[in-house]
Amino acid sequence: MPDRLNEVVGYDRRMTAETDAAHRVDRLWPDPAVDIPLDEAMAGYEPGVVRGRPLVAINMVTSIDGRAQLDGTAEGLGSRADRHLMRIYRAAFDAVGSGAGTLRATGVWLRVGDTLAAQRAARGQPPNPTGVVVAGTEAIDPASPWFDGNEPRLLVIGRDTPFGDAPPGTDLLRAPTERPEPRWILERLAERGITSFLLEGGPGINAAFLADDLIDEVYWTVGAHLLGTDALPMIAPIPGGSPFASRPRGGRLVSVLRHDSELFLRYRFGGEG
Ligand SMILES: NC(=O)c1ccc[n+]([C@@H]2O[C@H](COP(=O)([O-])OP(=O)(O)OC[C@H]3O[C@@H](n4cnc5c(N)ncnc54)[C@H](OP(=O)(O)O)[C@@H]3O)[C@@H](O)[C@H]2O)c1
Repeated sequence: MPDRLNEVVGYDRRMTAETDAAHRVDRLWPDPAVDIPLDEAMAGYEPGVVRGRPLVAINMVTSIDGRAQLDGTAEGLGSRADRHLMRIYRAAFDAVGSGAGTLRATGVWLRVGDTLAAQRAARGQPPNPTGVVVAGTEAIDPASPWFDGNEPRLLVIGRDTPFGDAPPGTDLLRAPTERPEPRWILERLAERGITSFLLEGGPGINAAFLADDLIDEVYWTVGAHLLGTDALPMIAPIPGGSPFASRPRGGRLVSVLRHDSELFLRYRFGGEG
């Protein structure tokens, strides 16, 4: 089933390095530049560093009116340039993950494509970041194509999640709580040497990380669409109320790129720089 995430499967097969390089952007902030390759605009990009735990960034695409789903998936909200940007972000992280809702709705594909995989390997890293799926109370289908890849893979499940033996190549982690708690997940990632974690949604798991004030960076693609639906937003309402309801979590704008009528925004929360 297609999604902004696993649509990349088809995208990887169709697109060549030449057409990837053809995505052009204007850099609006900082250091304005007109009509440069997206790869050049992102050269030298790396996530920040957080002391004592892995850095967490979320990467989401929404419509102008803030909806993160179109007919139940993210397909159609972002452009090909956005999907290429997703892979650039992924390639800079030790681990890339999604919630079980996204796996169930659309499948997940958390790899970076051949070119970026080769660049990672040349730097002595695994070709793909560790793929992470976080499940809660409901079952996960062990036949999901996500379990087929040969990249390192970590399935985090809740205390009572029905799940049998780990499929080959999958590191299976059972949390002591009904749903794995974000801080506990990050501790387990840190034990595995992971210092940066890119969370690609969906809105439910994003909300869990925000509730615990564990979002350090936000990569937001604004697709040039209006929907007017009641689809989920980038971050779902936090169950039980948000700690930021009357004390908003302030962020700093780090970078703005424009591709056609689409905006690629980067924000940082907390820390310096
Ligand atoms: N626009 C975008 O960029 C983008 C990106 C990704 C996904 N999406 C879309 O978002 C939708 C899926 O979003 P979603 O919110 O339903 O699913 P989700 O955020 O992918 O996953 C939520 C699920 O994670 C599990 N979970 C485990 N630990 C949790 C915790 N501590 N707190 C909360 N949940 C925890 C729960 O599973 P249990 O139910 O088993 O308890 C929960 O239902 C899909 O339509 C997908 O296409 C959009």
